[in-house]
Amino acid sequence: MEKFYVQGEQVSYPIFFANTFDFLLDALEETGLGKQKICIITDQNVDMYYANIIIKQLQIKYDRIFKFVMPPGEKHKHLETIYQIYNFFLENQLDRQSVVIALGGGVVGDMAGFAAATYLRGLPFIQIPTSLLSQVDSSVGGKVGVDFQKHKNLVGSFYQPKFVYINPSTLQTLPTREINAGMAEVIKHGLILDKSYYDFVKEHRQEVMDLCPNTMTKMIRRSCELKSSIVKEDEKEVGLREILNFGHTLGHAIETLLDFTLLHGECVAIGMIGAAYLSYQIGELSLIQFEDIKQTILAYDLPVKSLNIDEIKLYEQLFMDKKVKQDKLSFVLLSKIGEAFRVNQLSEEIIYTGIHYLCRAEEED
Ligand SMILES: NC(=O)c1ccc[n+]([C@@H]2O[C@H](COP(=O)([O-])OP(=O)(O)OC[C@H]3O[C@@H](n4cnc5c(N)ncnc54)[C@H](O)[C@@H]3O)[C@@H](O)[C@H]2O)c1
Ligand SMILES: [Zn+2]
Repeated sequence: MEKFYVQGEQVSYPIFFANTFDFLLDALEETGLGKQKICIITDQNVDMYYANIIIKQLQIKYDRIFKFVMPPGEKHKHLETIYQIYNFFLENQLDRQSVVIALGGGVVGDMAGFAAATYLRGLPFIQIPTSLLSQVDSSVGGKVGVDFQKHKNLVGSFYQPKFVYINPSTLQTLPTREINAGMAEVIKHGLILDKSYYDFVKEHRQEVMDLCPNTMTKMIRRSCELKSSIVKEDEKEVGLREILNFGHTLGHAIETLLDFTLLHGECVAIGMIGAAYLSYQIGELSLIQFEDIKQTILAYDLPVKSLNIDEIKLYEQLFMDKKVKQDKLSFVLLSKIGEAFRVNQLSEEIIYTGIHYLCRAEEED
């Protein structure tokens, strides 16, 4: 089992990596979690594959294990489900020593984390992320929460887990489309922070597609290291952490306009192309590097255009993002692969060149 520590402002915690769940008890012991009640929160898909394996492990030492199973998907990431989780905690008399385990993708992680953060003002919480997106992104950084009305992640908190346990072999059962969507965030990490990591991801496409254990562990670990290095500097997202938003300004707007018919990572892929194009247009990123990025994103079967969207609607939607401060639209751009910077004074005309690039058909290029 490999591990490294995420350093936070107040607490640090380990991320364990193993291609099996056999070391889960060791991880619990190492982090000082004793003989408490354990409550697993998962969704129906993940339950089917992994809950029993985990429960079997836990039963070696724990005799009070409870499991709450929710229906899968973003549409259940709201306060009504949290209400049901609180009821479940209450029925089973969870107390401040009880441990909550989030077993699943980002939806389960964000919700279980939010329930753990708020019930009795905080229960110890463990993340066992099972989707690629949750392994490389949502399980690191401590953001937990739920959607409210039509607004994504509007209600939430910052709450750090006691540890994260990543078993990359769980990706074997994840649909390929979800793997590719997770790869968008992986590519993002390389683009904003580490050219050699970007090159690694580009060159190991086949191993990634084959879910080769060594490659996956190496890749997921590097993404976690990169994300946590940023979060460490800016736990509460007041500055530096914004660069993780690369591709997300346009990506979120596209996600909303398409009414969430594309996966988040797919929209981020289009958004990254838009941001890279803007970077090229303002003379920062070279054309060669822009094309390279496009080829890498295509190689992972991710979209690079969004032809069904009205350009004016997309421009207007950009300003609806909750991250827009005082009408200032912030973009993260690239000076080169591996180096990002923030701007908030791009002209309407420049922004439209990016939008136009994404929304027009290829023949016009
Ligand atoms: N907290 C953060 O910092 C942060 C960062 C990025 C995204 N997020 C959130 O993460 C969520 C998206 O996460 P996601 O992409 O993991 O979505 P998800 O949790 O909905 O998982 C995607 C699908 O894969 C299934 N699944 C998960 N693991 C599986 C496995 N091993 N085998 C088979 N099926 C599996 C799930 O049941 C679901 O149907 C969004 O709600 C987003 O807001 C949070
Ligand atoms: Zn994202």
